[in-house]
Amino acid sequence: MTTEIRVLDSEDDLLAAANLFRTAMVGFPPLPNLTPGQITKLLEPGRTVGAFAGGQLVGTADASTSRLTLPGGTIVGHAAVSHIGVLPSFTRKGIATDLVRHQLQDMAARGEVVATLRASEATIYERYGYGVASSSQSVEVQTARAVLRPGVGTGGPVRLLDAAEAWDVLPRIYSDNRPSRPGTIDRPPVWWRGLRLRSESASGPSYVAVHGEPGSETGFARYRPIDTERWFVSEQRTIAVEDFFAPTTDAHLGLLRFLLGLDLIDRVLFWMLPLDDPLPLLLVDRRAARVAAVHDETWLRIIDVRQALTARRYQGDGAVTIAVNDPLLQDNSASFAITRDGAEPTDRRPQVHVGVEGLATVLLGGATWRDLAGAALARADAPEALVVADRLFAVPDAPHAGFFF
Ligand SMILES: CC(C)(COP(=O)(O)OP(=O)(O)OC[C@H]1O[C@@H](n2cnc3c(N)ncnc32)[C@H](O)[C@@H]1OP(=O)(O)O)[C@@H](O)C(=O)NCCC(=O)NCCS
Repeated sequence: MTTEIRVLDSEDDLLAAANLFRTAMVGFPPLPNLTPGQITKLLEPGRTVGAFAGGQLVGTADASTSRLTLPGGTIVGHAAVSHIGVLPSFTRKGIATDLVRHQLQDMAARGEVVATLRASEATIYERYGYGVASSSQSVEVQTARAVLRPGVGTGGPVRLLDAAEAWDVLPRIYSDNRPSRPGTIDRPPVWWRGLRLRSESASGPSYVAVHGEPGSETGFARYRPIDTERWFVSEQRTIAVEDFFAPTTDAHLGLLRFLLGLDLIDRVLFWMLPLDDPLPLLLVDRRAARVAAVHDETWLRIIDVRQALTARRYQGDGAVTIAVNDPLLQDNSASFAITRDGAEPTDRRPQVHVGVEGLATVLLGGATWRDLAGAALARADAPEALVVADRLFAVPDAPHAGFFF
């Protein structure tokens, strides 16, 4: 089947693409009522593509321009990919493949270094060179048992914001306090507008708490009650913390104390914490906090391997030569010599061979080379090369983005 891929820019095409994506996802709510022109503010111009078969729109994908933090703090160009969907009557005909290939070429032409997405299923994106570069944990806290150890700091002041005020203040707090943690991403304006729209069209209550003095806040939490049908008599009144942005120790403690101290609330469900969040260690009874699930978070695709490897930092002794294979973006297929001083292209004989999807998995330090080799995603001439590679790629903070898009 011949499909044509085109950039969608008109309001009608963008609305059709948004509805098509919802049809593909089966269980997503319908698009809320939008005012004229509003859809063009929710998608970045020039980054929504459509696949047409016989003139009919049958698939779509989009991206937002963002930046991502690599280990060592370097921030590189990043495309945040979302809304990939194909009409159920047109699946398994290569349409998603055409869309993804088109996107990869476009990102390369834009000079972007990495792309990331959140995957609805874990079996779709590896074939296009994506690997899981960070994970996230959902943690459930029973507030009655969650006493913080004596001596744990108090954090700073926390206050609630009006919904209307929140959407101006949160983007500022986020960009003023951007963490150095690998995997951190910019949150583009179109995302904030989308969040606001979803929040304003949701039926139940939701709240925003911010940490710090007005004008110089350092963190925030967005939360809402769940399972509210029998709220008045419920014995498990629960809030879901959908967004916990606590990049400093003070913000973490202040917001944590605020959420755990809310009257009425028996259970706090943190949706997305980094794997190294200190929460259990802070509690007298660490079992008051239970990991409910660990999810793959960042699916990362390296668009420019040379830039990605030279921009990230390394630590520890030794040197390793790694050969990268990228069938879709051939310019990425090359060998690199890596030491604590950095990475550079080399003609030397490689000690480790890896596909671009395997390299994506270890780029931010979220997995080890040894595990990659164990999973047959990398191959080494000698096991010592993997030990050296692991030392060089090690990171002090677990990679995490903390945001779903
Ligand atoms: C996922 C989706 C976009 C794939 O579209 P598609 O046009 O059927 O994909 P393609 O025909 O290009 O498939 C390419 C390959 O991926 C495989 N594949 C596609 N979707 C898959 C899935 N959900 N699970 C497992 N394999 C899948 C195909 O079997 C094919 O494999 P092959 O190359 O070995 O033959 C489509 O099924 C869809 O819209 N799903 C619902 C929405 C969704 O989950 N979107 C992703 C949001 S992150």
